[in-house]
Amino acid sequence: MWPARAIARILGLRALGPKAATTCLALAASLAVLAPGASLGQAPAPPGYTPGPHNITIPADWQARFIRYATVDKPDRKIIRNLYVNPEAFAAMRAGEVFPSGTLVVMADQRARLDPAGNPLLDTSGRFIPDPPLIAIAAQEKRTGWGEGYAPDKRNGEWEYAAFTPDLQRREVNLNGCFTCHLPRAAQDYTFSTWEYAATRR
Ligand code: HEC
Repeated sequence: MWPARAIARILGLRALGPKAATTCLALAASLAVLAPGASLGQAPAPPGYTPGPHNITIPADWQARFIRYATVDKPDRKIIRNLYVNPEAFAAMRAGEVFPSGTLVVMADQRARLDPAGNPLLDTSGRFIPDPPLIAIAAQEKRTGWGEGYAPDKRNGEWEYAAFTPDLQRREVNLNGCFTCHLPRAAQDYTFSTWEYAATRR
């Protein structure tokens, strides 16, 4: 018979002391706990995640990199909304499918230029003509496991919402309206324009 220590050496198990064994057991236990959630398609939140707008960071170079997939004229507010998505998500977007983890949609508003009577001027396509400066930015981003901690009547799947000034300072505004107004769009992965665009893109 080989002595146990020799067998362990042959198998390369010398490092496997009691501490490592405990770690393995702890890992197995945590996997067992996660399993039921995983079977529901609900991924666990990433370590350290707490719900809130602080999760969303718009990269400084977003205007150069992100893809503007739509612009919407808003006659009631005399503004133009520019809708952008990060290129990584854009490449992976498929009609009728939920968006990939890491999808970041940025909605940047501009004022429409007005005639002397205060009505929006139109370009040759009949669209509003923007005043260049951005006046407000809203964003929604989803990542695997986000959304944990919101009540069911608020939670928008794995999406978070945030509002920013044009120079990307976070605005401390009440975000409840973002969740409640986007919630009925659950079947469209909680988006409006993005879902529609994915279905009609050329
Ligand atoms: C009253 C309903 C309502 C509220 C409140 C609301 N949204 Fe939206 N949101 C919309 C609609 C409708 C669109 C589609 C663009 C449009 O027509 O203005 C949209 C579009 C967006 C988009 C572009 C992606 C998409 O879903 O089409 C982002 C990002 C967004 N909203 C973020 C926010 C954030 C952040 C807040 C809260 C600060 C917010 N929204 C509050 C209705 C709402």
